[in-house]
Amino acid sequence: MVQLTLPRNSEVKAGKKHAAKPGAKRVRRFKVYRYDPDTGENPRWDIYDVDLDACGPMVLDALIAIKNTMDATLTFRRSCREGVCGSCAMNVGGRNTLACTKGMDELPSGAITISPLPNQPVLKDLVPDLSNFYAQYAAIEPWLHTTTPAPQTEWRQSEADRGKVDGLYECILCACCSTSCPSYWWNGDRFFGPAALLQARRWLADSRDEAAGERLDALEDPFRLYRCHTIMNCAQVCPKGLNPAQAIAAIKQDMVERKA
Ligand code: SF4
Ligand code: SF4
Ligand code: FES
Repeated sequence: MVQLTLPRNSEVKAGKKHAAKPGAKRVRRFKVYRYDPDTGENPRWDIYDVDLDACGPMVLDALIAIKNTMDATLTFRRSCREGVCGSCAMNVGGRNTLACTKGMDELPSGAITISPLPNQPVLKDLVPDLSNFYAQYAAIEPWLHTTTPAPQTEWRQSEADRGKVDGLYECILCACCSTSCPSYWWNGDRFFGPAALLQARRWLADSRDEAAGERLDALEDPFRLYRCHTIMNCAQVCPKGLNPAQAIAAIKQDMVERKA
């Protein structure tokens, strides 16, 4: 029999409420997903009323303020706080994004709901387990493959050829795209997903790389590449403005052209 409801231990319960300090004048409410596997308890939504006059303007600033002044147990990843490392990717107000580059004033008024990137196992609170995501990235062999002897100084590239990796090399591997992709939700164990495929295209597009045939062979599979159905969630959420769906279409085109 198909089970249409969540198992009891997956239901997200109401959690704790943390009020702002008395006297706070500008307060914004955050509803944050909490889960600690060590307790054996269900996940819960905790409520934090954050004093906006005591923190910076970004969603990450509010999370840091919560951790520093309200609840030290809140767990999340972050590092660069300027949209470069990809660590702080999470679901904010129903959309995957980077907490450090998302201004609170960009979100509709009212409570801001924050949960981990969707459809990945949760290690704790806002920290997803991205092992499968990184394994897929490793599987596309993201480095230069060459057979000709290495030059004395460097592999040269014309300006025009260098331009061919624009829109690809900027990916910070935040996983916002893959975890917003319905095909990845269903087949994430076999479909490589938009991030790994955009990276695959980055090496196919590199004029210095000499392994295009092997790279395409490795993607010629009913699941790894062809589970993209051009739903475009990936391009909508990418915080770097990249278009993984277009990169995937380019790989499919590469496949067609080599068969022609
Ligand atoms: S375009 Fe393809 S990769 Fe992007 S979200 Fe849709 S199915 Fe996923
Ligand atoms: S393509 Fe964009 S959303 Fe996807 S991993 Fe790279 S930077 Fe993140
Ligand atoms: S903290 Fe590095 S991208 Fe947000």
